[in-house]
Amino acid sequence: MDIDIVSVFPEYFDVLNLSLFGKAMERGLVTVRAHNLRDWTHDVHQSVDDTPVGGGAGMVMKPEVWAECLDELLGIAADAPADADATPSPGSPVLIFPNPSAPLFTQQDATELSHAEHLVFGCGRYEGYDARIPQYYRERGVDVREYSIGDYVLNGGEVAVSVMLEAITRLLPGFMGNADSIVEESYTGANALLEHSQYTKPATWRGMAVPPVLISGDHGKVDRFRRDEALGKTSRIRPDLIARLDCAALDKADRKT
Ligand code: ADE
Repeated sequence: MDIDIVSVFPEYFDVLNLSLFGKAMERGLVTVRAHNLRDWTHDVHQSVDDTPVGGGAGMVMKPEVWAECLDELLGIAADAPADADATPSPGSPVLIFPNPSAPLFTQQDATELSHAEHLVFGCGRYEGYDARIPQYYRERGVDVREYSIGDYVLNGGEVAVSVMLEAITRLLPGFMGNADSIVEESYTGANALLEHSQYTKPATWRGMAVPPVLISGDHGKVDRFRRDEALGKTSRIRPDLIARLDCAALDKADRKT
């Protein structure tokens, strides 16, 4: 997977060299290029923002600078005509902007994007970016996504891009040491529940015993215990996930929980 990230703080992404992500880069599973948006400016101050039209606090990122950068990274001619019905062609890059006012980024989005060949992330700062930028690229046939990572406001898109990047790339085949850990986790699959609690050895620690069924050796009982725990935990903490469950896919024992 090819990944371009555009930011006014590209050094922020140096940390990607660490840990599993660094190993994935070494193995050629992912290639990441972090660009400085200011490299596409032409003025002596290298300015990337301007005051909001219509008034208001803060600064808004300028469309001209972003467009010069994105035309180059996406391979789009500066004079490409608009087409309101343009549809992205398979295998073409996906352009992603983190934005606190956008739909929430979910595990389903991460799964879908893990199949893309090329992702281009644009990190906004200040009060955000000019709203014409995503629309411009949509009308040139680019698959443009805007996502919020949660109902809170960050200082810029860099943290949000790191979150999305990790959620997406860990799903790439061969990224994780143990592929099973992806299959069993929270938010995965058609009947996504929060994951059951986990325990390790010793069986008793500071007077606290692990649930006895987990050391019973009875796999059927262990599975049932974990499923009940996941259902109970999800209904307490995230009733919205329970409301979205496909009832037809639940078994009789689930309905008793
Ligand atoms: N930029 C600032 N806050 C954000 C959020 N919550 N999600 C995505 N991008 C952001």
